Amino acid sequence: MCPQRSLCYNDNFEGFMVADTARPPLVLGVETSCDETGLALFGMREHGEVPRIIGEVLHSQIALHARYGGVVPELASRDHVRRLVPLFDTLLTNAQVQKHDISAIAYTEGPGLIGALMTGALFARALAYGLGVPALGVHHMEGHLLAPLIDGGVDYPFVCLLVSGGHSQIVLCEGHGCYRLLGQSIDDAVGECFDKTAKLLGLPYPGGAHIEALAKNGAPIYDLPRPMAHKGLDFSFSGLKTAVHNLIKDNPNAHKADIAASFQMAVVDVLAIKCKRALAQTGLSTLVVAGGVSANQALRAHLQKTLQACVHYAPIPLCTDNGTMIAHAGYLRLIKGQSSDLAVACRPRWDLQSLCLP
Ligand code: KG4
Ligand code: ZN
Repeated sequence: MCPQRSLCYNDNFEGFMVADTARPPLVLGVETSCDETGLALFGMREHGEVPRIIGEVLHSQIALHARYGGVVPELASRDHVRRLVPLFDTLLTNAQVQKHDISAIAYTEGPGLIGALMTGALFARALAYGLGVPALGVHHMEGHLLAPLIDGGVDYPFVCLLVSGGHSQIVLCEGHGCYRLLGQSIDDAVGECFDKTAKLLGLPYPGGAHIEALAKNGAPIYDLPRPMAHKGLDFSFSGLKTAVHNLIKDNPNAHKADIAASFQMAVVDVLAIKCKRALAQTGLSTLVVAGGVSANQALRAHLQKTLQACVHYAPIPLCTDNGTMIAHAGYLRLIKGQSSDLAVACRPRWDLQSLCLP
């Protein structure tokens, strides 16, 4: 167990945070790292059951930020504060769970927007204190990474392609909590590149799903660059966005659907090349793809076509930010006795590799 992050299971705080093993493990997860307020319950109602999703609620702030073309951090924090308690009540009612059935609480500690993170962390910490149960700060990207494992059937070691709005990484996952970065974006994250390109095409934020939808009506007729495809496992996506900018400028009558299809093709092509290389380098044949961009069907189809590997994804609603992935990732650590102390210290930046084994 990690020495720095196991304080709560010592009974040096009058015992109020000692896990109650008589109770079936049922973990509340709280996600507020950006613009989704997600709460969920993962675990079991009775001892001996297979751990599973017991309930989930999600509020997206997309409409709130739409007119600004991106997430406004202060508005995000305020909206989380407004939503957390009503969502918690709805979650309990829908799942027919009482507050005192909750055996532990997991919250996103980072990385993310500091104000947004603090709202969920303080809510979770205070609730855990009130209920007398342990709480654990979870790494948001570990939440994404483990989401495809929720239903079981994925064994370590594997390579993970983590692609979200803030991160693009290829990670060697040797075991639970044992992650080694093989490559990452040297500039924009893939999701960020989708979002910026969508803006160039006049599509709403966040643009990934809009580009995917538009691309279905077009053909990848424009030859866009495949940045850094020739070697290594790092990515670069900012040049691709500039290439789209120039394409639009030079071809004012081009069909937006063809541009979207060409852009998406370039992205999924680079991602597939990097995954293939990572699998070859590690000698592994299992790939897990996680994060918001993993919802993209063109990416899934292209990986299926080009890789001789067993590829795993989370169900589509669990690819983008949600409370379930935090409840699940927290559950896996809490049942092994890990928890955080009373001090709430969120981390806007947090290296996945610094995580310890539970
Ligand atoms: O994981 P996520 O919900 O939040 C972060 O942790 O960043 O990822 C959000 C990102 C956004 O950039 C969004 O445009 C992208 O995931 N995204 C997609 C799709 N759905 C969401 N990108 C491509 N295709 C999609 N279907
Ligand atoms: Zn995320």
